[in-house]
Amino acid sequence: MAFVAPGDPLELADVLRTAFAEAYDGPPAVVARAPGRVNLIGEHTDYNRGLVLPVALPHATYAAMSPRTDGVVRIGSLEEEQPWTGTVDALGPGDVEGWAAYAAGVLWAMRASGYDVPGVDVLVHGTVPLGAGLSSSAALECSVALAVCGVLGVEPDAAVRGRLAAACIRAESEVAGAPTGGMDQTVSLLASAGSALLIDFDASDHSTTDVALGLDRADLALLVTDTRVKHALVDGGYAARRADCEAAAAALGVPSLRQASLESLAGLDDERIRRRARHIVTEITRVSDTVEALAAGDWAAIGKAFRDSHVSMRDDFEISCPELDLAVTTAVEAGAVGARMTGGGFGGSSIALVPVDRVEAAVRAIDAAFVAAGFGAPQHLRVEPAGSADLVG
Ligand code: GLA
Repeated sequence: MAFVAPGDPLELADVLRTAFAEAYDGPPAVVARAPGRVNLIGEHTDYNRGLVLPVALPHATYAAMSPRTDGVVRIGSLEEEQPWTGTVDALGPGDVEGWAAYAAGVLWAMRASGYDVPGVDVLVHGTVPLGAGLSSSAALECSVALAVCGVLGVEPDAAVRGRLAAACIRAESEVAGAPTGGMDQTVSLLASAGSALLIDFDASDHSTTDVALGLDRADLALLVTDTRVKHALVDGGYAARRADCEAAAAALGVPSLRQASLESLAGLDDERIRRRARHIVTEITRVSDTVEALAAGDWAAIGKAFRDSHVSMRDDFEISCPELDLAVTTAVEAGAVGARMTGGGFGGSSIALVPVDRVEAAVRAIDAAFVAAGFGAPQHLRVEPAGSADLVG
């Protein structure tokens, strides 16, 4: 059965070193890698000061980097034809467009937070599927941030990683123009292998806690299905949901929907705004419920939380699509204990917790259902929760 391969870190780093030497006339000083992520539960809750529970993927973006003495910045990618060239003093909001903005934005934001970032040559390459709701953008940002640490000789301890996450979040919202909430960068920089990461966005330091999954003990596999329906967070849907949530909090007179109770939502006159707020308030509770159920090994409760989460995103938050709905229902029919769409929505991926001996049947059932519905072929990832961004070699 063919799953999207994460690739071997040492081999991928070598490929990148060779390509870097050809592109820039010399080997890179450092190679860093940063993982994509898949969120178990807690969708669109991060920018509402809520809870999220993502895991880092073994699929990652790799960034090779060397410092320069002339302030020039060159950013290339093995996946893109056009390299971007500029200077480190002239980076900032409005100065860079397209994919390179995610990398250049990090150089700018790290400078803004006090790091003495020089001109650099950068070459990136990755195995996180692009536009699949699996945080290829955050992986790119975090790999560049870690490579800069390598170039500057800064030890990426937990405090530094927190600063880097803040810089990557700024890069994405202010330079790349995607007003996202911070989950993706935080998990890419702070995840522990084998665990999910509970992040509390109400805490000023976005406090994080490792949550053991125990999938092996339960003979379950984490199956990710990329519907190949492209999602883009710079499109209007994500920002519109965020604006609806802010409108709900303002109408309720609370600083964020984290402070709103379910009962209080009856006071919202606008029906759409009320449904948006209901998704957020109930979704935050479902994250706590899932953490409790994981500790108790109560997979039936987790399955219910996943099911309710999907319905809430489909009907109240309106960010699902027919392909995601089909992947979720088919996975459950094929024996998954729980399934839901994951990530920003409007396309992208679903997740399913599937008994190990039923994974192949579930994949076949989803593929067949997509053919029968006339949808394009999806692709699948089988995920063991991976560790956070680091230097390679
Ligand atoms: C995207 C954003 C995150 C988060 C999710 C939805 O991945 O980058 O900040 O809001 O969507 O949960």
